Amino acid sequence: MSEIVVRTEDGVVEIRLNRPDKKNAITQAMYAAMTEAVTAAQADATARVVLFSAEGDSFSAGNDIADFVAISSASGGEMGLDAPVFQFLKAMAELDKPAVAAVRGRAVGIGLTLLLHCDLVVVAQDALLSAPFVNLALTPEAASSLLLPHAIGHQRAFELFALGEPIDGVTAAAWGLANRAVGADQVEAVARDLAGKLARRAPGSIRASKRLMRDGERLWAIMQAEGAAFGAQMKSPEAMEAFMAFSQKRAPKF
Ligand code: COA
Repeated sequence: MSEIVVRTEDGVVEIRLNRPDKKNAITQAMYAAMTEAVTAAQADATARVVLFSAEGDSFSAGNDIADFVAISSASGGEMGLDAPVFQFLKAMAELDKPAVAAVRGRAVGIGLTLLLHCDLVVVAQDALLSAPFVNLALTPEAASSLLLPHAIGHQRAFELFALGEPIDGVTAAAWGLANRAVGADQVEAVARDLAGKLARRAPGSIRASKRLMRDGERLWAIMQAEGAAFGAQMKSPEAMEAFMAFSQKRAPKF
């Protein structure tokens, strides 16, 4: 079965991460499939809402770290804007239809920063959200350097980026990163219910409202600036040490 499963029902396009044995870590191939689904949803008049969900016990462990190593060694850390991850981020910046996320378990790295591009977020009370970019000797992405401090304040955002320790779902909702924190077994039902409600609202009004609330062009510009800093770090010896430490299941030595 594919690692990204897309199904559409009653105007809701569900994009489901389906790599549970790797905690839904996202590979370049998965970003490409998600880009295709988001772009198609944006273009299809019958698609009203995009819903991100995940198979298994975790929403996503973030970018696949083996992919980071492959990119670093194959191209000296260079990741052009045509790389699948950037194409996905661009598609999210351009999406003016509402996006909903259903988050259980771990949401790491882009597993968290993707939520900043969703309009309604449902988390499990015991979900664990983290953005450990500095632990990997990397820098924030997905316009999170702007959106996360904007959502929760500089000090909280800096702590999430720099210390990389997780917050639970209750805290995420209290800080404004999620609309609802519910029991883990309720997450998908609540998210589907909200997505269904959005799908029945006036679509032109929802899209116009979202466009007024978010400047997609600015977000894409920030994503590109972040990409330059991220790419520079990817090439650094400290990042290589962090990737090696992860694959060898040990703590990095910086
Ligand atoms: N990239 C590649 N593989 C990953 C991964 C990632 N981001 N996250 C988890 N995996 C793999 C593990 O290597 C492991 O593979 P294995 O069974 O072949 O050894 C499998 O998924 C299960 O992960 P494991 O670490 O055993 O599960 P856990 O429940 O103990 O911990 C996490 C879950 C998410 C806390 C932990 O896997 C983790 O910290 N992952 C890295 C997160 C990260 O830094 N992401 C990048 C952010 S920019």
